[in-house]
Amino acid sequence: MKNLNSKSVKVFAPASVSNLNCGFDVLGFALDQPGDEVILTLNDSKKVTLEKITGDGGLLPLETEKNTASAVVQLFLKQIGAEQGVSIVLHKKMPLNSGLGSSAASSVAALTGINELMGRPLSRAELLPLAMEGERLACGNAHADNVAPSLFGGLVLIRGYNPPDVVQIPVPENLWCAVIHPEVSIPTREARQILPQMIPLRDAVVQWGNVGGLVAGFYSGDTGLIGRSMQDVIIEPVRKGRIPHFDAMREIAMENGAIGFGISGSGPTVFAFCENGNQASKVCEDISTLLGKNGLENQIYVSKINQQGPVITTLSI
Ligand code: HSE
Repeated sequence: MKNLNSKSVKVFAPASVSNLNCGFDVLGFALDQPGDEVILTLNDSKKVTLEKITGDGGLLPLETEKNTASAVVQLFLKQIGAEQGVSIVLHKKMPLNSGLGSSAASSVAALTGINELMGRPLSRAELLPLAMEGERLACGNAHADNVAPSLFGGLVLIRGYNPPDVVQIPVPENLWCAVIHPEVSIPTREARQILPQMIPLRDAVVQWGNVGGLVAGFYSGDTGLIGRSMQDVIIEPVRKGRIPHFDAMREIAMENGAIGFGISGSGPTVFAFCENGNQASKVCEDISTLLGKNGLENQIYVSKINQQGPVITTLSI
């Protein structure tokens, strides 16, 4: 008979686009691709160990407490009061420091996997604060606008943080997303340090008008309202200077008829909402050509909004 302590699971968790321009730290959605894959195997060691990481170019730490995937598994086991040994293999399948919620995808995949192996003692909502701790470890702040969409799927609003209040927002069926990652590295920690701590009231008024307009646009399926509301007068002006050819990329997206364009999370990835898949592909190709001509390596992804969140691809017991 097979030892129950060699149970194993493989989980995919999606990347995410957060902020959506005006909704810094409160809006985000999951992508169909890219995403991270984590394999967890139970053992008798009573320790959490990170065996191997692929796809990170050797940049991520292997120490259990320092890597988000293993650290959140440790927190999970502590929370449920289990002294369970588990070994973890992490396959990074997306660029690091890209603004695509890479650390969030790792945490969500790892938490979904350990929860499954332990018989699902926690609900997805109960996994959220643990995944947010992974973000604190990765960048110094426990924001939820990457982990919540990666964990729940869809487009979400973090209505409040104390306690986390996550609201699923419906999205128009025909909404596609063009995602372009210019190969420069912008660690989220640094991209947060440059932000203003105080903002003028007039900017706040513009910003919360846009957040309301964006959410209303998603509910009503009014792409004109969505586009008009994708305006950010607080964060984008500070961050866009670090993203090569940002204004030229926006021009290309809008000339191709995109609904709206902006920075994905803390960048350098940019995204555009589009009316269909062909338009999203064209936006990606044209921006990729611009970056290529300027000697910048880049990756492109065309995706709808992922409604599933994490997926268990293999379970062996
Ligand atoms: N809301 C976060 C930020 C997302 O913009 O710093 C980080 O990907």
